Formats: sequence, C-alpha cells, structure tokens
Amino acid sequence: MRDLPFPPLPPADPQHGHLGQLRADRLGFLTETAHTYGDVVQIHFGEAVSYLVNRPDLIEKVLLHTNTHFIKGYSDDPILRTLLGNGLLNSEGSFWLRQRRLIQPTFHRNRIASYQQIMVDYTERALSEWRDGQRLELHGVLMQLTLEIVAKALFGEDLRDKSQGIGEALTAALKAFFDRDEEDDGELPEGFLKAVASLDAVVYELIERRRSQPTSQSDLISVLLGARDDEGQTMTDQQLRDEVMTLLLAGHETTANALSWAWLLISQHPAVWEGMHREAKALAQPLQAAELSQLSCCESVLKEAMRLYPPVWAFSRVAKEDLELGGFALPAGTGVLLSQWVTHRDPRYFPEPLAFRPERWQAEGSWPRHAYFPFGGGPRLCIGNNFAMLEGTLISARIAREWRLRWTGEEVTPLPAITLRPFPGVWVTLERVGA
Ligand code: HEM
Repeated sequence: MRDLPFPPLPPADPQHGHLGQLRADRLGFLTETAHTYGDVVQIHFGEAVSYLVNRPDLIEKVLLHTNTHFIKGYSDDPILRTLLGNGLLNSEGSFWLRQRRLIQPTFHRNRIASYQQIMVDYTERALSEWRDGQRLELHGVLMQLTLEIVAKALFGEDLRDKSQGIGEALTAALKAFFDRDEEDDGELPEGFLKAVASLDAVVYELIERRRSQPTSQSDLISVLLGARDDEGQTMTDQQLRDEVMTLLLAGHETTANALSWAWLLISQHPAVWEGMHREAKALAQPLQAAELSQLSCCESVLKEAMRLYPPVWAFSRVAKEDLELGGFALPAGTGVLLSQWVTHRDPRYFPEPLAFRPERWQAEGSWPRHAYFPFGGGPRLCIGNNFAMLEGTLISARIAREWRLRWTGEEVTPLPAITLRPFPGVWVTLERVGA
C-alpha cells in the first residue's frame, strides 16, 4: 500500500475541496470528472476525501466487500441519522445482520406475490379518480399511491387519509438535505426537525395501534414487536420506530421517482407507449399474478428509465482499513462514492447512453454486471428490489392499459437530494384511450 499512487485529484479549493463545484451542479460535476480524470478520482468534500469509482468490476468489489472491508458510514450523517435512526438502511455489522434476518422473510418471493392484490387494488382506486382531459401532477399522485401500498402490504395499515401529509413532510425533509451546507456542523434546520416530528407521530401511532390491538397476521410490525435478542430483550421503541420509518420512506419514494421519470419519458416517446398499451391490453382485468411474466415490455421500460434516472443516484462506503482499489492506495477512513447516475450513462457500457431505448434490455447481460446497479448490490442490496419491480411494472401496465399521458411541456429537472426527484414535478394531461 505504501508504494501505491493516489488517484488523480481534479483542481480543488484548498479549504473547501470540490464543494463549490458540487453545489453548483452535483450530477454534471461528477459526470464530467469521471469522464476527464478516469475510473477512480479523488473528490474532496471540504477535508473529507472520497474516491469516485466508475468501473463495474471495482464497484462490484466495493459492494461485495461491504461489511468486511467497508462500512456504510451513513449514521455519521446528521440528516440521515435523525430521519432514519439506526434502521436497516443505516445500521452496521452484527446488529444490521440480525435485523436484516428478521425482516427478510417479509420480502420472500411468495410473500411479495401475495402483495400483488394490494398493489392492483390501490392502483385501481387511485386511477378511478382520473378524468379524461384532466391536468395532473403525476409525482405527487404516485408518492401517495406507493406509500399507501407499502403501508398496507408490510404493516397492514391503510394510510389513505394520511398519505398527503406524509408526502409533504418527506418533501420538506429532503429539501433540507438538498439545501444543507456540508461544511456546517451546526443545528439541523427547524423545518427539517418539524417534518421529522410529524413523520414520527404517524409511525408511533402505527406501532401503538399494533401493540394495543395485536393481530394474528404476520405483518412486519407484529414481527418486530415479537422479536427477542439473545438476552430475551424486545426491541426498544426507538429501534421499532427506526425500522418502520426506514421501510415506509425507503419503500415508497424511490418507486414513485422511478415511475415518474418513466412516465415522463414514455409521454415523450409515443412508440414506447404503444408497445406497453398493446401488452397491457392483452391481459385479463384485473391483472393476475401469473401474467406478470407477460409484462416484459412494461418491465424493460422501467429498467431503462432507472438507467437514465436512477432513483438512488449515488451512495457511499468508507474503507475500514488501508486497502488497494484499482491500483491506487485507499487509506482507512477514505470514502468511496458510487454513482448510478455516472455509470449508467457511460457510453462504454450503454451505447448512445442518453437515448431512452427500452429495447436495449433485450440484450441484458451484454454489459458488465455492476454497470447497472439501481438497487445497489452485495450484502446490502436493496431488500425491496423485487417488491419495487413488481409494483412499478403493475402500476405502469395498469396506467398504459387505459391512459395516455401527455406531457404539458413544463420543464422537469433532476433534483439530486438523497434520491433523484423530478423537480418541480411531472405535469401531464390525461387522455383516456378505453380499456
Ligand atoms: C425503485 C425502487 C427502489 C430503489 C431504486 C431502491 C434503491 C436502493 C439502494 C440503491 C439501496 C442500497 C443503498 C446502499 O447500499 O447504500 C437500497 C437499500 C434499501 N432499500 Fe431500496 N430501493 C427501492 C425500493 C425499495 C422498497 C420498495 C423498499 C421496501 C419496501 C426498500 C427498502 C430498502 C431498505 C430497507 C434498504 C437497506 C437494506 C440493507 O442495507 O439491508 N427499497 N435501496
């Protein structure tokens, strides 16, 4: 390690590193940096050093060795820590492993198939309010729908009258993340703390209700309430809150973003819509589990949309010890930044990377495995990936069956907060095409 070189360092401010460039344009700066300086590049967040890694085999190495050579290091982030606490996304080591084993059965293939009816029913209900010719902000609608689905599927709770409030609180919380000053160690903004308090109130109410009215069903809150550690202790209320909050938030915002970007692209590519419509129309109504394999066109559209607009656009790890990565020295404590936005748009893996081409998925497997990683990988792979793909495909198919969405032309830009949101929203006009 002593003789290994360090990766290239793009021109940086001695005190602030690359924070100025990142603040001006996070996505553009990272893309440009990888393009100009290569597959492993130093990025300085003030004094903290990270390596941006844009080579699939190295991305794979980092993901597969998370837990052994790397940690996530997320709980050092005051915003993530306050919002999600020590839930599954943030926790580390043996504690994480125990919680993951507890929660994993809820995401078993058979259980996910059993959520399909909930996904279809809630989608039917949401779409029954749509009117021909109506102007609609799609992202807000999808945020509510995906929240209602995850709450019902995982926790057995109907959150329909609360979903709008939760959406607003989450938007406020993510805005604080986007607006924050990375060099400011001071207090968290008041708007953020208020948003978290209102989300807390919803989550604690869910937990309290299940505690006072136990059900025979094996919903996730009951599973968490019944869990005992090696000493026979139950989970603290704080830990229950952290797990429920993590699943509720991680389990809907990302899927809503994926679908919003997908439908913005579909509305701009009429031939893609035609293919989805034909596929969805050929199916029985309502959609049945057995028919999902017949939705390959709708599925490819979702995958291609997540290539161009990955709902999680970047995430990081921290080296636990001195390591070598791609021939460079990676000292303990250095961060590693993996960016789906950058890698998914790399022309070496995806020819004409900016073109929206769902048909490229017919050649799936012709690019290196971790050139595409919307759900991460390795032991910390998204626990909800199959849930999200099923949900996203079903919702898309149901929309395409009956509706054509016309984009109003109002500009949409990707807002890279924790997730990649379409800002200020996706405005469309609804056109019914007959079921
Ligand atoms: C399109 C939708 C989704 C995308 C793009 C997505 C993306 C991701 C990514 C990239 C990670 C890994 C982060 C890292 O390694 O640092 C992750 C982890 C996670 N996701 Fe998802 N996710 C989606 C849907 C869901 C759903 C539906 C759920 C739950 C119902 C969920 C729950 C989680 C949890 C709990 C983790 C942490 C897992 C662990 O560390 O053990 N996600 N997700």
